[in-house]
Amino acid sequence: MQNFPENIFTIIKKMNIQRISNSTNTLQKNHHAQERQSVNLTLIEKQLSNSTKESDEREYRIYNLAESLISWVQGKSLNNLQKAILKGAYQDKTYEEMAEDINCSEGHIKDVAADLWKQLSEKLGEKVGKKNFKSLLERQLNANNVLNPQTNYQPQTADYTNKSWGNIPDTSIFYGRKQELLTLEKWIIEDHCRLITLSGMFGIGKSALAAKLTKQVQDRFDFVIWRSLIDVSQGEDIFTSILKLFNPCEEIDASMSLEHKLLSVIEFFRTHRCLVILDNAELIFECSKSNQQCSLECLTYQQLIKCIGMTEHQSCLILTSQYKSKELDIEEGINLPVRSLQLKGLSVEEIQEILHAIEPFWATPQDWSFLVEYYAGNPLMLKVLAVHTRELFECNISKFLEIETHQTLILIALRDWLDKQFDSLSNLEKLIMRELALSQAPLKISDLQKKTFLPSSEEHFIEALINLIQSSLVEKSSFGFKLEPVIMDYVNSRI
Ligand SMILES: Nc1ncnc2c1ncn2[C@@H]1O[C@H](COP(=O)(O)OP(=O)(O)O)[C@@H](O)[C@H]1O
Ligand SMILES: [Mg+2]
Repeated sequence: MQNFPENIFTIIKKMNIQRISNSTNTLQKNHHAQERQSVNLTLIEKQLSNSTKESDEREYRIYNLAESLISWVQGKSLNNLQKAILKGAYQDKTYEEMAEDINCSEGHIKDVAADLWKQLSEKLGEKVGKKNFKSLLERQLNANNVLNPQTNYQPQTADYTNKSWGNIPDTSIFYGRKQELLTLEKWIIEDHCRLITLSGMFGIGKSALAAKLTKQVQDRFDFVIWRSLIDVSQGEDIFTSILKLFNPCEEIDASMSLEHKLLSVIEFFRTHRCLVILDNAELIFECSKSNQQCSLECLTYQQLIKCIGMTEHQSCLILTSQYKSKELDIEEGINLPVRSLQLKGLSVEEIQEILHAIEPFWATPQDWSFLVEYYAGNPLMLKVLAVHTRELFECNISKFLEIETHQTLILIALRDWLDKQFDSLSNLEKLIMRELALSQAPLKISDLQKKTFLPSSEEHFIEALINLIQSSLVEKSSFGFKLEPVIMDYVNSRI
């Protein structure tokens, strides 16, 4: 088990106590910062709704026009601060007045405004600034030539919620998972779960399901943010991007520690209903599994996750991960706010629908059943097989299965994914996998333990077996433990 820097747990404990009595300076500071953040947002929203009520129709149309133009350029709707700046500019306010109105630094307002004017200038083909913004848009509105009728731009409806979709997968082609979606919606909306892990083998559909779910429940939240941990090393840390979304007025101090950011995030989770999805979360649990030294960033993410499960707030964090965090296992329960759902494979009908969305693939009913069983209903593996079939046999899957070495061909195509999953296992987990692959038949727990006995890791046997079951690499059956056929062939090919 990893040891987190002690101070963070002390702070979490204090945070819980602080709800009754504000006992520490750190927390008071945080609390004040949070109050300030809430005031900022409330002020902006108040200002927006007041001016909407007061504004005459023309002002409203001009404002909407500017908003549409910029949203068009940005590909997403404006945030509250950008909206407040447009409004202020229309009302001939100085940046100083705007800053006062919305309790934000003048410098930050100027930076955001400069970006807005730049985008408008690009769209309109002439220089736009605060001074000529109103007259220029009025002119454009009179000429009625701003929005080209040929474009299929859809004006966006006013949207005061804040969403940041990151690289969320497209879910326009999505089949099945009805029961899972119902269960997860209930956990989020009725049971107010704070932390949900979607676990399962690579390619089983964790990200696709999380994306579908996010789209379905997004309107229940004030803030929605999707991030993949694969991108973490490439850009700003997730805390910074979360805080920026939560509080566009406030500049994030570059020297702020990760722990401090974590605390600000949790405070915000208390006062707002936020949905955060961290895709590929196994990347932050991997180091603890392979007994490597965890980086500070990984440890802090683990802390974030644990804190979100342990502390009281009104937000929800969803993780997708090939396996569950050991630390969270003990916090989980069907009546507790921390839960997990292990994804199983899809049915023959669902796989057929997914593949038919690509091409009209054909196979005999027996071959369809064989395939879905062999690849454990894994849509990624079956998509890889389908693509090979399209190239070689004009979508006739049964013909592909006639090749004696078809399994080897697909294993080669899947090797990168399989290697990655296998290599992330601990030595004991690998040993268990090898014994199960060699045995071919299911093994009882006592036999498996004898076969994999290592004095150095005796006490870790149960933990390792549970990890393998949770990541869907090992299956329980009434006859004992076994591997899915495709996994068995892969492990045997590595022995
Ligand atoms: N229910 C589904 N309907 C349609 N396609 C799906 C479904 N589930 C998964 N897929 C597709 O299968 C592939 C693997 O899914 P993904 O969500 O990336 O798996 P994971 O996140 O578990 O590795 C993707 O191409 C995805 O679009
Ligand atoms: Mg994924």
